[in-house]
Amino acid sequence: MKNILQYKPVQEMIEVTSNLYRLGWDERNGGNITYLLEEKDVQEVIDTKKIICNIPMSFDGQALAGKYFLVTGSGKYFKNVKSDPENNLGILRVAEDAHSVDLLWGYSDGGVPTSELPAHFMSHIARLEVDPENKVVMHCHATHLLAMTFTHELTSKAFSRTLWEMCTECLVVFPEGVSVLPWLIPGSNEIGEATADAMKNFRLVLWSFHGVYGAGRSIDETFGLIETAEKAAEVYTYVKAQGGVKQKISDENFKELAKQFGVTPNKDFFKI
Ligand code: 13P
Ligand code: ZN
Repeated sequence: MKNILQYKPVQEMIEVTSNLYRLGWDERNGGNITYLLEEKDVQEVIDTKKIICNIPMSFDGQALAGKYFLVTGSGKYFKNVKSDPENNLGILRVAEDAHSVDLLWGYSDGGVPTSELPAHFMSHIARLEVDPENKVVMHCHATHLLAMTFTHELTSKAFSRTLWEMCTECLVVFPEGVSVLPWLIPGSNEIGEATADAMKNFRLVLWSFHGVYGAGRSIDETFGLIETAEKAAEVYTYVKAQGGVKQKISDENFKELAKQFGVTPNKDFFKI
């Protein structure tokens, strides 16, 4: 058996949770991450026949039955993942009954997976339907994006347009834009269903007055997606503080940008 602490997804999880904490986007137990693993890789680091415990879920995870995930624990602090990964992270397999998960490693003090498991698993199901290579769903309380949900018009179109306009590369990184959800109860199936519904068309979903969800094929890609949108929100904050927009990227500029990078902006938000 290989040492699980040398297992790349565990190392990536340690690194990204440390970065998210360092950036101030995951205070206290804020934020959660789920990372879809390859069964053959998991079998190299743990005995997958040994089930520590079975944890019920309040929703149907049939589409994920038998799949393995590395998941941050509920109530755990991202700042502590590095010093004690086995307590703050867990490896789960979605049970065949599709309404529970088997804990195979981690949560060593008797903990449980993130309270946002419905939003994560429902988002994985939605993303895998449009991108079979999707692996990561990441939630954090990115400061400037969160702040913008108090001051900016809360429509997906207006929000996406503003973020695109704050930084030239935004249109290239998230040409589909961001989906904005109203305030909903965290941890509920309702917010999970609304997030997953948005994830059919978007990889970035904003939860008003709460934070952001990102999805992608790797930890780097997902973190980079959130980081890019958050940077645009930070620029927006400065632009507002400096007295507002005096000049901006024109529609013609956006058209040239889309052509140069071979991306198609969301046609509901921007006509090429
Ligand atoms: P957990 O500690 O259960 O992951 O919850 C943190 C959070 O950010 C809820 O939205
Ligand atoms: Zn949260």
